[in-house]
Amino acid sequence: MTSEELTRIDVNLREKAYPIFIGSNFLPQIGTLIQPYTRSKKMFLITDNLLEVLYLPYVLEGLEAAGYEVYVLTIEMGEGSKTFKEAEKLLEKMLKIGCDRECAIVSLGGGVVGDLAGFCASILLRGVDFIQIPTTLLAQTDSSVGGKTAVNMAAGKNLVGSFYQPKAVFIDVHTLKTLDEHQVLAGFGEVVKYGLALNADFWNWLETAGDQILAMNEEMCRYAVEQCCRIKAAVVESDELEQTGLRSLLNFGHTFAHAIEAVSGMRGAILHGEAVAIGSILAAWLSVDMNLCSQELPEKISAQFEKWGLPTQFDATLKNSDLIAAMKKDKKTTGDHLNFVLLESIGNSVLAHDVPIKSVEYIFNEKGRKKSGFSFY
Ligand SMILES: NC(=O)c1ccc[n+]([C@@H]2O[C@H](COP(=O)([O-])OP(=O)(O)OC[C@H]3O[C@@H](n4cnc5c(N)ncnc54)[C@H](O)[C@@H]3O)[C@@H](O)[C@H]2O)c1
Repeated sequence: MTSEELTRIDVNLREKAYPIFIGSNFLPQIGTLIQPYTRSKKMFLITDNLLEVLYLPYVLEGLEAAGYEVYVLTIEMGEGSKTFKEAEKLLEKMLKIGCDRECAIVSLGGGVVGDLAGFCASILLRGVDFIQIPTTLLAQTDSSVGGKTAVNMAAGKNLVGSFYQPKAVFIDVHTLKTLDEHQVLAGFGEVVKYGLALNADFWNWLETAGDQILAMNEEMCRYAVEQCCRIKAAVVESDELEQTGLRSLLNFGHTFAHAIEAVSGMRGAILHGEAVAIGSILAAWLSVDMNLCSQELPEKISAQFEKWGLPTQFDATLKNSDLIAAMKKDKKTTGDHLNFVLLESIGNSVLAHDVPIKSVEYIFNEKGRKKSGFSFY
């Protein structure tokens, strides 16, 4: 397979511009496809212990056939590996093996591997080339594009990291076939975010095609991945460093999500995309409370989420005080003010500064937790 047979989406960031290639079943050809984006034959491939079994053999076959000298570094799968300590271990290993500024780091895996490998690439020798091969729905539609790298800290998710654009992203949608249902649903939580926050046409398409994506229909998945990458590329091109407010709109649902994840514990109690789905519903209800839209909007979105099987409420044992404390640590919080991306309508979101804490608590109480009885709104 040649690069002409793949869909190419360019992220136009002047000297940091890079292509995203999307296709199916091309991992054994990755060696030739990757060549224009590497400067040396030496590379470090960071993956996790599941991907090491599922896809590493194909990728290695392709890279070695093209003459690459590949050093594989494997982390344990899951959010618990996205830490400073793990980054330090990887960096020490790469330095011990020996690297120079022309080496590349390649990530093969989901958002955890991508964020961690990207973070290492951004600081190793003050920056080495980075290439992403994302393998989850979440990573293919979101985390591999846009250059945000991060590790989690005790104070919260993604609190230490960098903006560091990859040299290229290679998305093989065929890898989605092996995702378990839970991971598919979590990735879909991020997919719907694009429609809700930025693009009503995409949401309308998802309303009919969503079930087929959840059933991993490859053609539908490929179309969804392409649309998400196009939407994200356009946003990143206009606001790479999240300075004008446009890129912040991609954080729709995330102020709630990060707090829910932080309080639930970061070791898999709730997946990121599931927390984003819950956060999206709560942000829609908060938009009603802030007089931006009518209650039909969250009702319509909730009904659709329930049809898809996306979660809409969090564990009833999470305490308001812990959630609010976690929100205050969010990197989008300025001083004591809580910032949220809210909805005016589907596809139209706004960044709201200074949302009163009591409104957020009200949403937690009335909409956040499952209730057995009748609830007014
Ligand atoms: N950088 C960004 O812009 C950005 C955006 C959104 C999310 N994120 C981050 O992404 C992370 C979540 O990413 P994720 O949901 O991909 O989780 P993940 O990387 O933990 O992957 C989820 C699980 O799926 C497995 N897996 C990966 N690909 C597979 C495949 N093809 N078949 C079967 N199993 C597979 C992994 O081994 C892992 O166990 C979070 O840390 C989040 O903060 C980053």
